[in-house]
Amino acid sequence: MTKITFIEADGTKTETIAQPGMTVMQAAVHANIAAIAAECGGACACGTCHCYVAPDWVGKIPSAQEDEADMLGFVIDPQDNSRLSCQIEVTPDMDGLVIQVPDSQT
Ligand code: FES
Repeated sequence: MTKITFIEADGTKTETIAQPGMTVMQAAVHANIAAIAAECGGACACGTCHCYVAPDWVGKIPSAQEDEADMLGFVIDPQDNSRLSCQIEVTPDMDGLVIQVPDSQT
């Protein structure tokens, strides 16, 4: 099990436990993080699962692949630590991962 903490734009922190093989987007949806709308269901086609990976974690998770990087060009307020949460597969070594959630993206 992998603990993930979501920090919403208003500072609200939500901790959840994700199983390996889930995506960070699925963990957010299970934790009722409203700003992660995930409208395409994880198909890397909508950008509404955009999140910011906490700076300490950026180098510890696999980098975005080409299709994710392309889609990140369409999200609102992209930053260097932007990711699509549906493209981050949870692994045990991500225990303690911190994800910052942008304002509503719908
Ligand atoms: S859920 Fe649509 S791009 Fe991630």
